[in-house]
Amino acid sequence: MEALVIFLIALLIGSSHLDVGEGQSNTFNIVNFGAVGDGKTDDSGAFLKAWQALCGTKGATVTLEIPASKTFLISQSDLSGPCSSSSIQIKILGNIVAPEAMAWKGSKECWLCFREVNGLFLYGSGQINGNGASWWTQGKGAERPTALHLHACNNLKLDGLTHLNSQMNHIGVHHCNGVSISNLHIYAPGDSPNTDGIDISGSTQVYISDCFIGTGDDCIAIKGGSSNINITKITCGPGHGISIGSLGEGGKNENVEQVYVRDVIFNATKNGARIKTAPGGSGYARTISFEEITLINTRYPVEIDQRYCNGKAHTCSDKGQAVAVSDVTYRGIHGTSSDEQAIYLDCSSNSGGCTRITIENVNITLSTFPLTKTLQVICNNAHGKAIHTQPVVSCLLPGFKRPFI
Ligand SMILES: *[C@@H]1O[C@H](CO)[C@@H](O)[C@H](O)[C@H]1NC(C)=O
Ligand SMILES: *[C@@H]1O[C@H](CO)[C@@H](O)[C@H](O)[C@H]1NC(C)=O
Ligand SMILES: *[C@@H]1O[C@H](CO)[C@@H](O)[C@H](O)[C@H]1NC(C)=O
Repeated sequence: MEALVIFLIALLIGSSHLDVGEGQSNTFNIVNFGAVGDGKTDDSGAFLKAWQALCGTKGATVTLEIPASKTFLISQSDLSGPCSSSSIQIKILGNIVAPEAMAWKGSKECWLCFREVNGLFLYGSGQINGNGASWWTQGKGAERPTALHLHACNNLKLDGLTHLNSQMNHIGVHHCNGVSISNLHIYAPGDSPNTDGIDISGSTQVYISDCFIGTGDDCIAIKGGSSNINITKITCGPGHGISIGSLGEGGKNENVEQVYVRDVIFNATKNGARIKTAPGGSGYARTISFEEITLINTRYPVEIDQRYCNGKAHTCSDKGQAVAVSDVTYRGIHGTSSDEQAIYLDCSSNSGGCTRITIENVNITLSTFPLTKTLQVICNNAHGKAIHTQPVVSCLLPGFKRPFI
């Protein structure tokens, strides 16, 4: 009898509390570390204590729960590994919200900054809200944090969460190997500046699928040092599409290869499938494909821009060396463009141009009036082949005579 009472009391106290002390269960709840979750109290102290418990606990899998129906105000937080377990889960059912710009403390590089945490898995039906409006009105040069920053986190998984109104980029994946991102909803207003959805750099084996992304900048940007990136089933818009680059800014040597984008809808985006490099840089962007792309009122659906600089398209003069662009395939691109310049291949004359470019099974029609306008193809120094395309890409057809410059 006495044993039963003690057992029931133990149950009432909460199994996680009890078991953690005994090193049994490995589930923590932020509320048990003093978090209030009223959206006003700064819960950062509790969050950091919970993180330290999570990161320091051994076990096959350790989990921190952020409970539903509560909003946790969390300031800039450094969440660093290495951790004791190789499977660190944060189950987010409630909301995490950032302080406004005026109340910011700590680094402006990132808000939730995970570094060197292997086997990190962030998931749940909750929201991560950067509360970015107070940052968007600051001038272009102002430093603004990436909301969720993941640096050197191998075997990373993100699933199911909603990411809202980041101060700058929503999610940054940098120097991570083995990344799976799925079922995310990422939203910020179309006019919010530089609010990229997912930014990837220096990372390999990254798989992104089944996401809805609508922001003020790139839905997904793939930057230098990235390879083996598969992106499928993405609805993108508003925003600037899926971009490789920009690469080679400030004379840098940068490489991106083996990027496969498939089954994407660009809905009222400014750009669609884009590769951008800056004159003066070196390195390469190669073995890249964009396939089965649906366009809805996309302004510049197909674009290679080797005169990209200072955040501006097709502006820099084509001089000095260039990042080499080769083996790029656009296949199965259909739908409507809102601008006449549907296919814009603006390659450098200095690196031998873009080589082995394939454009196949493309049917783009103009969505805007007057329909008397016709779609244009702009083609500078592009080499390769075009098969079954509307508009006709004559510079990639056999027998095309390159204009004498
Ligand atoms: C990535 O895409 C490429 C090209 O479609 C494909 O060959 C490869 O199997 C894909 N990898 C994964 C892990 O899905
Ligand atoms: C495209 O965006 C519009 C406006 O947000 C929306 O009403 C429509 O459902 C979207 N279409 C698709 C296929 O996602
Ligand atoms: C291209 O798309 C338009 C509009 O959907 C359609 O009317 C036309 O038949 C298509 N052309 C080809 C060659 O598929």
